[in-house]
Amino acid sequence: RDLTWANTLGLPCRAAFFAAPTTLGALRDCLGDARRAGHRVTLLGGGSNVLLPPRLGGAVVRPALRQWWLERAGERVRAYAGAGVNWHGLVMALAARGLWGLENLALIPGDCGAAPVQNIGAYGVELADVLYAVDVMSLSDGRMRRLSRRECRFGYRDSIFKRSLAGEVVITRLVLELERTPRPVLGYGDLAARVGPAPSALDVAQAVSAIRREKLPDPRYMPNAGSFFKNPIVDEALARRLQHAYPDMPHFPQTGGGYKLAAGWLIERCGLKGRRFGAFGIHPRQALVLVHFGGGDRAGLARVAKQVADAVEARFGVALEIEPRTIKA
Ligand code: EPU
Repeated sequence: RDLTWANTLGLPCRAAFFAAPTTLGALRDCLGDARRAGHRVTLLGGGSNVLLPPRLGGAVVRPALRQWWLERAGERVRAYAGAGVNWHGLVMALAARGLWGLENLALIPGDCGAAPVQNIGAYGVELADVLYAVDVMSLSDGRMRRLSRRECRFGYRDSIFKRSLAGEVVITRLVLELERTPRPVLGYGDLAARVGPAPSALDVAQAVSAIRREKLPDPRYMPNAGSFFKNPIVDEALARRLQHAYPDMPHFPQTGGGYKLAAGWLIERCGLKGRRFGAFGIHPRQALVLVHFGGGDRAGLARVAKQVADAVEARFGVALEIEPRTIKA
């Protein structure tokens, strides 16, 4: 099966088997079949944060559980969303109902099931702020289990699903906890200036969408995987040295110590913004995004990424880490 369509970077990829089960029973059967046939299972969501290899052994499974519903929980409302629900569609549907919590996470590409893996975050909110629990199915025996938010061990673009549970479970459902009383989070960038004095959840979601459309390329027309690098967290001594040399450098103190720097700013300062390297390039409006013009593959992309990271390291002494997940061949 050709899976080039299944990743927003448009990297060429072929897999022996692909399945998109639409019910929990079908998902369990599909995992059982793969296990009995001795196939390794690779899980895929919307493909917006993965680096796929040209050939994928074993079976590729994309959970297509597309139901979602709401339940009252005291003063709050819980949203139950299947792993295959489109994230942005859910954000807009909830914001339109006047439910607060997800509006800053509008227009993030991908499926709900992938959201906890990297703890998606934008404009001052991350999934961990609104997530109540995650339901998972064990890959080895099909058993279901519910993980609380704490058990997910969320960090910046990080969770237990990237660590000890990687390759162990498939996320089947999210339980999100939403507020009915307005709770706008408008502190990031110029978000506050873009909405009126008493915005609705939908106003905020629309403002966030507008900002993203201005900066981030639409993968349908310009294949990309959003931010290609994580924003690096450096120790105080390095942050102070850099601040001294570059007084306009964005830097954000972290609760656990150290400072988070803006990788996009560092890359731009290396003169790389808008530059093209063969099949790939640095987006002209957001230097953190690498785009694919066509004809490239994962190895080519890795070479360009290394060139960018080396330039930043040489100039600032800061190591950049790749953000999308590299899928084993
Ligand atoms: N900047 C530059 N040049 C650039 C890009 C950014 O100077 O080319 C500067 C900006 O001027 C600003 C700072 O860097 O001072 C931060 O930029 P921005 O607000 O655009 O956000 P970011 O740090 O580049 C992060 C997330 C995005 C998320 C935005 C908004 C990561 C790796 N990326 O980007 O997430 O949408 O904040 O919250 O944390 C993603 O993960 O795929 C993603 C798009």
